[in-house]
Amino acid sequence: MAKGFYISKVLAIVGILFSVAAVATIIALAVVYAQEINKNDIAPTVTPSTTSAGSNSTAESTTPPANEPWNKYRLPGSVIPDRYEVELQPYLKKNDEGLYIFKGNSNVYINCVNATDLILIHSNKLNYTLKGNHSVSLEGVDGSNPPAIRRTWLEVPTQYLVVQLESSLEAGKNYKLSAEFTGELADDLAGFYRSEYKEGNETRVIATTQMQAPDARKAFPCFDEPAMKANFSITLIYEKQYKAISNMPNISTDEEIINGETWLRTKFAETPKMSTYLLAFIVSDFGYIEEPGSTPQIRIWAREKAINESQGQYALNVTGKILNFFDQYYKVPYPLPKSDQIALPDFNAGAMENWGLVTYRETALLYDEKISSIGNKERVVTVIAHELAHQWFGNLVTLRWWNDLWLNEGFASYVEYLGADHVEEQWHIKDLIVLNDVYRVMEADALPSSHPLTSKEDEVQTPAQISEQFDSIAYSKGASVIRMLDSFLTEPVFKQGLHTYLTDFAYGNTIYNNLWTHLQTAVDNSTISLPQPVKEIMDRWTLQMGFPVVTVDTTSGKIMQKHFLLDPNATVDRPSEFNYIWTIPISWMKNGIEGPDYYWLQKTEDVNLTFSTSEWLLLNIDVKGYYRVNYDLANWQRLLTALQNNHTVIPVINRAQIIDDSFNLARAKYINTTTALDTTKFLYNETEYMPWQAALGSLSYFRLMFDRSEVYGPMKRYIKQQVCPLFLYFKKLTNNWENRHDGLMEQYNEVNAINTACSNDIQDCQTLASGLFEHWMNDSSNNTIHPNLRSSIYCSAIATGEEKEWDFAWEMFQKATVAAEADKLRSALACSKQPWILNRYLQYALDPTKIRRQDATSTITSIASNVVGQTLAWDFVNSNWKELFSQYGGGSFSFSNLITGVTRRFSTPYDLRQLEQFKKDNEAVGFGSAARALDQALERTKANINWVQENKETVHKWFIAEAGNSAEC
Ligand SMILES: *[C@@H]1O[C@H](CO)[C@@H](O)[C@H](O)[C@H]1NC(C)=O
Ligand SMILES: *[C@@H]1O[C@H](CO)[C@@H](O)[C@H](O)[C@H]1NC(C)=O
Ligand SMILES: *[C@@H]1O[C@H](CO)[C@@H](O)[C@H](O)[C@H]1NC(C)=O
Ligand SMILES: [Zn+2]
Repeated sequence: MAKGFYISKVLAIVGILFSVAAVATIIALAVVYAQEINKNDIAPTVTPSTTSAGSNSTAESTTPPANEPWNKYRLPGSVIPDRYEVELQPYLKKNDEGLYIFKGNSNVYINCVNATDLILIHSNKLNYTLKGNHSVSLEGVDGSNPPAIRRTWLEVPTQYLVVQLESSLEAGKNYKLSAEFTGELADDLAGFYRSEYKEGNETRVIATTQMQAPDARKAFPCFDEPAMKANFSITLIYEKQYKAISNMPNISTDEEIINGETWLRTKFAETPKMSTYLLAFIVSDFGYIEEPGSTPQIRIWAREKAINESQGQYALNVTGKILNFFDQYYKVPYPLPKSDQIALPDFNAGAMENWGLVTYRETALLYDEKISSIGNKERVVTVIAHELAHQWFGNLVTLRWWNDLWLNEGFASYVEYLGADHVEEQWHIKDLIVLNDVYRVMEADALPSSHPLTSKEDEVQTPAQISEQFDSIAYSKGASVIRMLDSFLTEPVFKQGLHTYLTDFAYGNTIYNNLWTHLQTAVDNSTISLPQPVKEIMDRWTLQMGFPVVTVDTTSGKIMQKHFLLDPNATVDRPSEFNYIWTIPISWMKNGIEGPDYYWLQKTEDVNLTFSTSEWLLLNIDVKGYYRVNYDLANWQRLLTALQNNHTVIPVINRAQIIDDSFNLARAKYINTTTALDTTKFLYNETEYMPWQAALGSLSYFRLMFDRSEVYGPMKRYIKQQVCPLFLYFKKLTNNWENRHDGLMEQYNEVNAINTACSNDIQDCQTLASGLFEHWMNDSSNNTIHPNLRSSIYCSAIATGEEKEWDFAWEMFQKATVAAEADKLRSALACSKQPWILNRYLQYALDPTKIRRQDATSTITSIASNVVGQTLAWDFVNSNWKELFSQYGGGSFSFSNLITGVTRRFSTPYDLRQLEQFKKDNEAVGFGSAARALDQALERTKANINWVQENKETVHKWFIAEAGNSAEC
């Protein structure tokens, strides 16, 4: 699955330092997510259906003796499913009670492994029609006589339908368990659910699914664990005007009259052995496009209107190519006869890899040449590649339990770049993993509160514990260490190991060690030599949290490793069997010449005379390794000189590395802040995206700390001087901003150039922005601003503009029909420099007729991210806390973002006192889900005060010394 944060990852690189757009969008998404979660609470409560024999079973299930099998979250495994027949009938109109429901019936053929008089099968929020006295009926298969059912009941906390038998099932025998049930087709984005969208002023309803992780049990009773693979025959019954699709192709559609109305009954081909979490079935009025005659069949589904506007065309162009790519990459044919991709208007995750029927958020599948930016396009191609990679790795071969989720998601998050690169060869998209995943996750992984990739199987039991597994460590650190593994094994060996792993375990389940075994065999059959077996090396990266910083002393050749922590005072409570020592593959380059082999560091410290040198030495080429690098000061100086003289002698990814590593090393007090700042000096000559992006990201903290102080003047002059040549470079490259370069990185860096130039007072840029904006104001039906540039142009034009610019943007915001466009405008409206306008906008944020409730907090935080709005937003939150809390509080995710957002600049003792007073004053009202964020804000403010105290003077001096006059700009 591509998760919520997976979205923010992509946006984060498009959203730029001096723009609030990205942050606001991320928060907006978070808010949507939180609200959807809240909707869960209104799902109907289940009334346990009891039998006469179990008259007090309700009482039993509320005060259970805790060690009965049905009190445990894991299935006992004494019976296992072989195949299912499931028939579902969604009603896409409200019933008399005002509810949307679905009806269903199911047969599951089970095999008894160990004699047992108890059957536990997952069931959540389903109501059963009694068969005789019981919720299910049991038959013997092959003529055997089944035991009688004693009683059945629903065990709500562990989500079981419990079937107690009068006598035991016989080991080795097969039985059939049948049930008839009803569920709510709620809009809770889980299980079998309802999604609504507007076509003109008509509301359309569709029924769709999201089973991962444990929600198949909300659609029909099933053994809902990934290792309980079975064959599924799905049948859907639906009203005539709709279409139905599922994992497998349709084999028959028949008409059926139900209560005088014509319904259709579509039967789908039986699936291969698969896990319940990968099932999907959808009833909709959508349209599709396909490439005629392709095998496997590939279709792109979406709302009719989106299909008619060709928004699925890009997805169709790339899906077949990516599927072929993985076919070749794994050397295993795609296992199913077809692959559908469908864009859903309401979808919780970014996308979901259901076998043969992949579901996506609209923004992850649809692409509109006229409205979408290059970032949107990148997202579409990478998400498709991610989900298609899972069709083998994850779907054909499935991890046995959710504790190994990191391998499934980390793997897909790595190879998505390979799949995307295959179709967009000129983009160099593989490089972006360094910014999007490696450095991004290192921030979280450098804290003592991080955790190892692996979890123990018995520590992941409840649905909440399962969903906790889907975090950035699993996705991005997983991707980073698998990329490192691929690079030291070399691609042919890595692919060979994957091939035998996928072949050996096809239609089965694994644990992560099974992959290491297969890779080891591939290594043994190759000429690769490793210092330790694959498992030994990888255990050090997966069983312990964090990562090392490698320090080289080029005078002696001494090389050391240490667990890297961003806070030098932090203490680590979590023990590690490897004592935070890693086996580290170190690639290197000396004076432009790359070393032939990896040097492996396996101890705390070692000496390698190759590294004793008076030339510049660079470690971790292309950041293939998951670690940071520090040098003795003399080598830092040599690297800085090399960058200054001819920066292209250092590979582009390493130019970003030198910046990102040095700023982080400075935060952790390994090197001086001025050394880190020195790494940005060569940017004057730099036109590439990655180093710029690394620098803008690193400097954003400086801006937050200093943009209200005397440091900011010289800082702005310095940035203006550095960005001036870049701005002129793109002005020329794009023929005065008329044409777009084809490249991905070029387009991203063009946005960086405009954003940075405009927000650091380059007149030419501001004139450009207000000119383009004015052009639009003069003809509001004709917005000629390129989608890539809109966020930056809007923000700059509103910042330098007056009331009329703001009012125009407000009007356009209210008229916007495309959500992405509305979001760009809503963020840009926060860029005004007029306090009264910002104050009015803050008032609007609390008026649901002006700003949708789900966007309220992100609107306030975007205002806070503007230096003029900071104090206003804080005062607003401070004085309206009670109202805000009663309207938006109570368990909502967005609330903690609000506190974080309005306190991000806090860095003075005065700020700290205000925050403490705020906490005291509102103790009685409460902070709900923001309680933790408030404590973190207090901590962060204290850390910021220290940092500013220690660094302000030197940073101020440094900027004064380095800031020149940018004559050309
Ligand atoms: C929307 O509804 C109005 C009145 O209910 C109707 O006049 C109009 O034709 C509808 N528009 C569309 C596009 O269906
Ligand atoms: C770290 O500890 C030292 C000494 O105990 C102290 O002076 C310093 O302020 C602390 N730094 C931070 C960031 O807390
Ligand atoms: C800079 O280095 C690159 C790569 O080594 C080389 O191709 C180029 O000619 C050098 N440029 C200058 C101006 O020396
Ligand atoms: Zn995934």
